Amino acid sequence: MKEYFSFQWHITDECDQRCKHCYIFSEDNRIKLNIMTWAQIQEIFYNCMDFCEVYDRLPYFYLTGGDPILHPDFWKLLALLKEHGIPFTILGNPFHLTDEVCRRLRDHGCQKYQLSLDGMQETHDWFRKQGSFACTLEKIDCINKAGIQSVIMTTVSGTNRKEVAAIIDTVVAHHVDVFAFARYCPTSEEKYTGMTPQEYRELLEICDHKFQEYEAAGCSTYFNKKDHLWTLYEYEKGTFKIPDSAGEGTIYGGCNCGNCHITILPNGDIYACRRVQNSKVGNGLEDRLADVWVCQMENYRDYTKFEKCSKCELLAWCRGCPAVGSGKSGNFYAADPQCWKEIQEWNYSN
Ligand SMILES: C[S@@+](CC[C@H](N)C(=O)[O-])C[C@H]1O[C@@H](n2cnc3c(N)ncnc32)[C@H](O)[C@@H]1O
Ligand code: SF4
Ligand code: SF4
Repeated sequence: MKEYFSFQWHITDECDQRCKHCYIFSEDNRIKLNIMTWAQIQEIFYNCMDFCEVYDRLPYFYLTGGDPILHPDFWKLLALLKEHGIPFTILGNPFHLTDEVCRRLRDHGCQKYQLSLDGMQETHDWFRKQGSFACTLEKIDCINKAGIQSVIMTTVSGTNRKEVAAIIDTVVAHHVDVFAFARYCPTSEEKYTGMTPQEYRELLEICDHKFQEYEAAGCSTYFNKKDHLWTLYEYEKGTFKIPDSAGEGTIYGGCNCGNCHITILPNGDIYACRRVQNSKVGNGLEDRLADVWVCQMENYRDYTKFEKCSKCELLAWCRGCPAVGSGKSGNFYAADPQCWKEIQEWNYSN
């Protein structure tokens, strides 16, 4: 079985919300919205197919926006994926989902639909828009009933970290299939994530206890420990051990950037990661993705350049979140601001 390669494809910037933290809108709510034409969609699609042929991978698409369902050719694109038997996940909004729409999504091959919850009602609606919290909870049921896996993602910052425990209770009560959180990545305007390393570690501890309690009670929600700092947490707890067989210089896990994932924006720009500001490596309407992958993308694979991680025994399994680290300084290889690990050699040199 070939390995999958993930394309996070933002087909449109169009959206019913203007979230305060969003990397699309946080700097300017009046930005010109980019929307791919149908001709451009096809060009990008076949560029991705060519990429997978060259590297002998299976394509997997994460279709997103904005809200991808607002794209005028959304269903045409889904039909194209279905025709090629390609599985996909949608990262979208709740507003345009109905039982009928969810059934149609499933029939086109949608495996998962991810919605966001960024706090309990007051905080979530403050970040997003009035009524968004209630609508999100209501639409989880539509997704579940259609037989699509429901996923809830929380973007955590200093503003909402104390609400994550309540969000976990809420998603469990609504029978969400998968729950995960990732950290807010500062945009070029905002440099502070509002959490000290210790505060973030405390949050992981609280979540870990909750996850264990729910798992012991037979809860069906899968808790995806997506943030790579979970590896540091589990290493300290003794539940993650560095394998004796580990080879020097091999990368076993951690951040996927430069490994099995790439992002395409609605204007065709290819980004190493959507959350890493200024990580444009090419344009899929002008460049062959397969070439970009071995040329410009090399800038994201120099593991010796990680300022702190290169001195850490967890380099091959963690590297924190370079998108959070680089949001502050602009340097992809900067230290993760929430990593609490004491590294003498690094502390001395900084
Ligand atoms: C761009 S949205 C598109 C899908 C959908 N509109 C939504 O909000 O879930 C995808 C994810 O990116 C997250 N996101 C947006 N700006 C971010 C930032 N500056 N740092 C981290 N995550 C961010 C959102 O919270 C959401 O979970
Ligand atoms: S709903 Fe998603 S795409 Fe729209 S502004 Fe919010 S985070 Fe950005
Ligand atoms: S220094 Fe880097 S690799 Fe080590 S625990 Fe921190 S983020 Fe992870």
